[in-house]
Amino acid sequence: MKSLKYLMSSISLVVLSFLAIAQSSAQIVWLDELDLSSATQGYGTPRKNKTVDGKTMTIAGKTFERGFGTHATSQLTIILNGNAKSFSAMVGIDDEVKGQKPAAEFVVIGDGKRLWSSGIMQVGDEAKLCKVNLVGIKRLELVVTDGGNGDYYDHVNWAGAKFEAIRGNTFKTYNPIASTPYILTPKPAAFPKFTGAKVFGVRPGSPFQHRVTATGERPLNFAAVNLPKGLKMDAKTGLITGMLTQKGTYLVTLKAKNAKGMAERKFKITCGDRIALTPPMGWNSWNCFAHEVSADKIKRAADAMVKSGLINHGWTYINIDDFWQNNRDSKNPDLQGKFRDDAGNIITNKRFPDMKGLADYVHNLGLKIGLYSSPGPWTCGGCAGSYGYEKNDAESYAKWGFDYLKYDWCSYGNVIDGLPDHDPYKVSSLSYKGGEKLNTAIKPFQMMGDYLRAQPRDIVFSLCQYGMSDVWKWGDAVYGSAWRTTNDITDTWASVKSIALAQDQAAPYAKPGNWNDPDMLVVGQVGWGNPHPSKLKPDEQYLHISLWSMFAAPLLIGCDMEKLDDFTLNLLTNDEVIEINQDPLGKQGVCLQTIGDLRIYVKALEDGGKAIGFCNFGTEPVDMNYADFVKLGLKGHFTVRDLWRQKQISTVDTKTSKIKLKVPAHGVLLYKFSNTQRY
Ligand code: GAL
Repeated sequence: MKSLKYLMSSISLVVLSFLAIAQSSAQIVWLDELDLSSATQGYGTPRKNKTVDGKTMTIAGKTFERGFGTHATSQLTIILNGNAKSFSAMVGIDDEVKGQKPAAEFVVIGDGKRLWSSGIMQVGDEAKLCKVNLVGIKRLELVVTDGGNGDYYDHVNWAGAKFEAIRGNTFKTYNPIASTPYILTPKPAAFPKFTGAKVFGVRPGSPFQHRVTATGERPLNFAAVNLPKGLKMDAKTGLITGMLTQKGTYLVTLKAKNAKGMAERKFKITCGDRIALTPPMGWNSWNCFAHEVSADKIKRAADAMVKSGLINHGWTYINIDDFWQNNRDSKNPDLQGKFRDDAGNIITNKRFPDMKGLADYVHNLGLKIGLYSSPGPWTCGGCAGSYGYEKNDAESYAKWGFDYLKYDWCSYGNVIDGLPDHDPYKVSSLSYKGGEKLNTAIKPFQMMGDYLRAQPRDIVFSLCQYGMSDVWKWGDAVYGSAWRTTNDITDTWASVKSIALAQDQAAPYAKPGNWNDPDMLVVGQVGWGNPHPSKLKPDEQYLHISLWSMFAAPLLIGCDMEKLDDFTLNLLTNDEVIEINQDPLGKQGVCLQTIGDLRIYVKALEDGGKAIGFCNFGTEPVDMNYADFVKLGLKGHFTVRDLWRQKQISTVDTKTSKIKLKVPAHGVLLYKFSNTQRY
């Protein structure tokens, strides 16, 4: 009996302690047990138990087996529903970026309130303990922001991150931004309608090539009344060719006719010093093919521009980026060979056997063609650059028949500082605000600008030195048509957002012939040689295209043109949105009002109207009545048109009206306000 009692109590003890152990271990939920794939971050993909580069997490020499490796700007949302007691982690920047200058801040947000922050951390700082009480918290956000010096090399770890749970693991991570694509752009009507630029600039004596474009049922017949002498139009294609020898402005009436009727539009040709009077529109190989570009891929992209119908919406340039030249380091025989001939002329690599033939091919489709180089000895990809051979190169481009040059910076910093030229990226963060070094930074662009000008054809000159030395202040003086304002874009929300937020400072310098360039579009199948659908959510893509249109930015598609899906085509063929970008006044839209995460951008238009973008940068939808019209520079009676939906939505009296704004998280409403009566 005694032994039975003993046995019973031992069993119950065992059961109890087993339960206790089970219960206490069930109460710990490691962050890496959750699905982390919904995290958004500035670079790479979210990693479990590894750094963003896939290595063992190490902070100030201490290694960690578990945790979440990510990259600023990073955000992970976890639904706790009040089932967590606490969260703890050791946070810090990973040693794998030693030698760089990353800086980041870890922030924990619970139900919209900041619960904890690490302060700015640098590489080499010991891991900081983050311990946060979560009782009652329903929604938790683990955020890592950039520490104020750009989010480069911000490889950050939530090491040993875990929850104390009240009732086991019921936690769910999720991305609060909707992920189902939806199409807003209506199909073009059968009746003819002109699209694309309403003005075109050419220099006297340069070959003229401009294709007038329209939508509508085919066949379409084009005509141009009052076309100046020296030019002719192909009635079938709308292509205007020829040459003007005298400076002057010519007002032409365009006509497009099909079985359904006829459309008319005024078109202004300015023969003078300025070209690219509206932001260039086209495609560039980099975001899609990177180092794998070839003449064949360029031809296919050009064919797809025609086949997809994009050509009918004003898309024009087919630009070859880096890797048409021979390469210094590549083991691939296609990219190996002499860099220049004995006369100093650049030699193309084996993938580009006939540059002139390629340019002719693209021109024959009614499109234009561009290419890329760098003022240093090497391009960013380690191909032959133009240093010392600028004149030869400008002449080669013209001889081949190119219309556009993207001119980078890589390895020129080394030239300035007399450094060995083997590291193209070295000192690429140089930024001179004045003095002799500023002149040195301008010099290579001045030189190439002058040589391009001296060619007997118009070549759009696009500077790609990431906005250093306030390029927008001197880009025009070196005959730049466009200049990058920021570093390279990637298909992440963090990248698009940080680039978008950096545009306003250069806005006053945008004008016909001079465009601030926030880099290429990251919609469709992108991937820098590693193709995948853009990681931007549908609303983020609408916001991206809307903002780039509002910025009067060059619009260069970066995706695989042969894999355009309906959603991407809907983004790229909305003529009312494109019209905002191509507006002849050439003003860049700026943010005039901020309400929480809602930023309201305004772009003045040639017809007196205003394009207004209600842009939601936050993770919650905006739902509000808006009446602050005066802040946006609007006074009087207006009609309001929704440009994505191509629909009139209301009229506004700025003294009395309110409009309802429902803007999805990371999304946009893009409206045009047209004045019908002033006060
Ligand atoms: C970068 C440039 C990219 C691409 C690349 C080619 O500097 O920003 O857009 O052109 O070089 O190597």
